[in-house]
Amino acid sequence: NMRNSDKPLSNSITETNVSEPPSKKNDAFIKKFEPSDTELKDILESSDSDTELKAKADAVRRRIFGDKVYIRGLIEFTNYCKNDCFYCGIRHGNNKSHRYRLSKEQILDCCRDGYGLGFRTFVLQGGEDEYYNDEIMCDIISSIRSESPDCAITLSIGEKSRETYKAFFDASANRYLLRHETADYDHYSKLHPRNMSLENRKRCLFDIKEIGYQVGSGFMVGSPFQTTECLIEDLRFLQQLDPDMIGIGPYLTHRDTPFKNQKNGSLDLTLKLVALLRLMFPYALIPSTTALGTIAPNGRELGLKAGANVVMPNLSPTDVRKDYELYENKICTGEEAAQCRGCLEQRVKSAGYRIVTDIGDSPNFKNRRI
Ligand code: 5AD
Ligand code: FES
Repeated sequence: NMRNSDKPLSNSITETNVSEPPSKKNDAFIKKFEPSDTELKDILESSDSDTELKAKADAVRRRIFGDKVYIRGLIEFTNYCKNDCFYCGIRHGNNKSHRYRLSKEQILDCCRDGYGLGFRTFVLQGGEDEYYNDEIMCDIISSIRSESPDCAITLSIGEKSRETYKAFFDASANRYLLRHETADYDHYSKLHPRNMSLENRKRCLFDIKEIGYQVGSGFMVGSPFQTTECLIEDLRFLQQLDPDMIGIGPYLTHRDTPFKNQKNGSLDLTLKLVALLRLMFPYALIPSTTALGTIAPNGRELGLKAGANVVMPNLSPTDVRKDYELYENKICTGEEAAQCRGCLEQRVKSAGYRIVTDIGDSPNFKNRRI
């Protein structure tokens, strides 16, 4: 009568697969954990502590990445959005949101500050804002590129046509983040208005990958109406997409959305999923997200210990930070870029890891190219 967490997890998660040559001189090949639906359901619904799961995840992470934690500088450059996602504080329908846009010069200033602080990845994130058309966006991307040829440029600006993704890529963007949010069709329609679809979301993600970006996806944990089956679907979809980056965070409620009376997601379930993701996607870049740091003061440290290997401090100008309010009580809205950088240095160290300033390309992606 073993407790759930004492049961050995099937197909020996941390075992080196000897039949596979040590992959492309990188590391010994690490076998992916490939749980069945029943196994996933057991893990996700067990209320036992996840000490074993997290320890295994940390072991896998250390074998591949050592104690390295990559940093990405996040620039939230517009909070205008044409979409009306029911969970999001900057949805179009929220007329209480104070809207802002950063100019190209302001964005370049953020990158310059960031570069000086050791950042070699800039993540341009924003709502779906049609002000930034292809021409304006491509100009911003190539301007960053000419000032910072040794940096990765990551975009996180939502659903676009394949042509637009291609144009951004040709302008030298390298990576694209687009969470699928939920891979269950019915659940997707409960989180989004009817003009948005999971089909199109998936189309975008496969286009992004085919064009040659390093691709990131992910989902919210504990969003309204989410079931264990939804989470299993999320993991299955990620196995199909095989992304380079996977970002998850707890759902957090926002007073000016249709979901204002819904409950926040859970810290523990998010951490359990971080550990599962590390075991199922050993080579993925997994951020310990701002939402994790918001739901608990040491949430990001716990995320790192559960297998996350990326942190994404904010480089946005301080005066706009509180307006990029996807959810309430978001951390770091009063701190300067340098303060966040210093704060994270300490936090990462206290968790037992070390921030590195290399560009941190996805090993998964590098292997795809060879
Ligand atoms: N709580 C937590 N995460 C949220 N996001 C949007 N709104 C919320 C919320 N209320 C996440 C989405 C989006 C990412 C930028 O932020 O997953 O993809
Ligand atoms: Fe921003 Fe700690 S990371 S203040």
